[in-house]
Amino acid sequence: MTAKLLIVYHSQSGSTERMAEAVIAGAKHPDVTDVEVRVQEALAASPEDLLWCDGFILGTPENFGYMSGAMKYFLDRVFYPVEGKVDGKPFAIFVRAGNDGTGAISSIRRILAGLSVREVQEPVLIAGEFDESRLTDCEELGLTMAAGLEAGVF
Ligand SMILES: Cc1cc2nc3c(=O)[nH]c(=O)nc-3n(C[C@H](O)[C@H](O)[C@H](O)COP(=O)(O)O)c2cc1C
Repeated sequence: MTAKLLIVYHSQSGSTERMAEAVIAGAKHPDVTDVEVRVQEALAASPEDLLWCDGFILGTPENFGYMSGAMKYFLDRVFYPVEGKVDGKPFAIFVRAGNDGTGAISSIRRILAGLSVREVQEPVLIAGEFDESRLTDCEELGLTMAAGLEAGVF
């Protein structure tokens, strides 16, 4: 059966979007043939998207020591509609930050702990000057999640 991967991200000035594009490219790698990838901007993503997927990846900039308001609003909107219906689903995080990023990661983890979903990869964090070479890590994140879902290893 085709595995389903959801990627939800938000980007205000475009750098998290560059990370997202690399994550998406990895998830759609030609070696992964039996995974459907759905990409949603955080403000457009819905509870149905989370219920639909077998695993998901969230990407956000860090703003004011937290995830972006748009990502928080996504989690605010989906939490109760999906609570108890997504237990055990694997997820991963990517974050773009001016200089830190830990607040974005910990705030997402804290909320998702309440949904009993499972973080299956270390987050990819690009902090400080945008290091192009780290886009490979983003691609790897997407590929590993897609390949893992396809193989049923998560
Ligand atoms: C309102 C605002 C608050 C920010 N707060 C933080 C912060 O707390 N920590 C940090 O490392 N970077 C912070 N930044 C920097 C952003 O994380 C950085 O510019 C990032 O590249 C934005 O991602 P985007 O290009 O996808 O919008 C902030 C930026 C903005 C606009």
